[in-house]
Amino acid sequence: MARPTKKKRKKKAKLTAATADRHILYGLSVQNVEAEIDFVDATYEELRGRKAVTVREDFCGTASSACEWVKRREGNRAVAVDLCEETLAWGREHNLSKLTDEQRDSITLLKRNVLDPGPEGMGVDVVLAMNFSYWIFVKRTEIVEYFKTVRASLPEDGMFILDHYGGSDALTECEEDREMDDFTYVWDQHSYNPINGEMTCYIHFKFNDGTKMKRAFEYHWRHYTLPEIQDCLRDAGFGKVTVYWEGEDDEGEGNGEFFPCETGDADMAFITYIVAEP
Ligand SMILES: C[S@@+](CC[C@H](N)C(=O)[O-])C[C@H]1O[C@@H](n2cnc3c(N)ncnc32)[C@H](O)[C@@H]1O
Repeated sequence: MARPTKKKRKKKAKLTAATADRHILYGLSVQNVEAEIDFVDATYEELRGRKAVTVREDFCGTASSACEWVKRREGNRAVAVDLCEETLAWGREHNLSKLTDEQRDSITLLKRNVLDPGPEGMGVDVVLAMNFSYWIFVKRTEIVEYFKTVRASLPEDGMFILDHYGGSDALTECEEDREMDDFTYVWDQHSYNPINGEMTCYIHFKFNDGTKMKRAFEYHWRHYTLPEIQDCLRDAGFGKVTVYWEGEDDEGEGNGEFFPCETGDADMAFITYIVAEP
């Protein structure tokens, strides 16, 4: 039997649906802002021959990408735009609070509609729209209007970078579990209407004690195919639209490296980056 000591070992509290914070779980299971910002930084430098300084993160949620951007280099600045006050406040309290004073002063959080980012959101080097958030615009006219707004925010050497999820899996109703360290992430493509492309998706979290956080996040959006998005970007006035396809490792799995491509594989599920230039 182990000898008892006076010093009590601090036990890590087990996650349960009652104690877990949905934004922390989202950050752990959905986002990879380091890899995303690696791509943005390298792509801008490769295409422009200089490093980007200002980034606008549209649909920023908790502004994780904006925080990652200002941490990268002294002098970097970010504008982060989201409609939801609760989510912005969470980002301020949990993400911006971890930055140095100088980094924090380099971020402008805006509670605004991305369709009207205001003067603070203009003239940036890069606009980002990640995790397919722009699918919120279910009408083609709306998404083209959003892309026009982005185009108008950019200088001639600016860049719009967005990600896209495609393949036959994206057009089905299905549920997929992924085991994380202390919980299970569940991606639920709950309903899909093939006539107008509209779908409802949820994120649920399950915990080791059997409790569940159902519908922690919900999305009502339209799935746009990759060709549709490229057409919409061109219709909005972007002169050059390039798809960056993911490379493969020895087992044929995505390796996290993305390259400009004109021909992709008809995989069941793929994630790409799209780079749109004025
Ligand atoms: C899927 S989350 C994206 C969070 C984060 N950017 C990411 O990459 O994971 C979508 C966010 O878009 C915001 N949103 C939805 N419509 C918006 C709009 N028209 N203007 C600004 N933000 C919007 C929501 O409040 C929500 O925080």
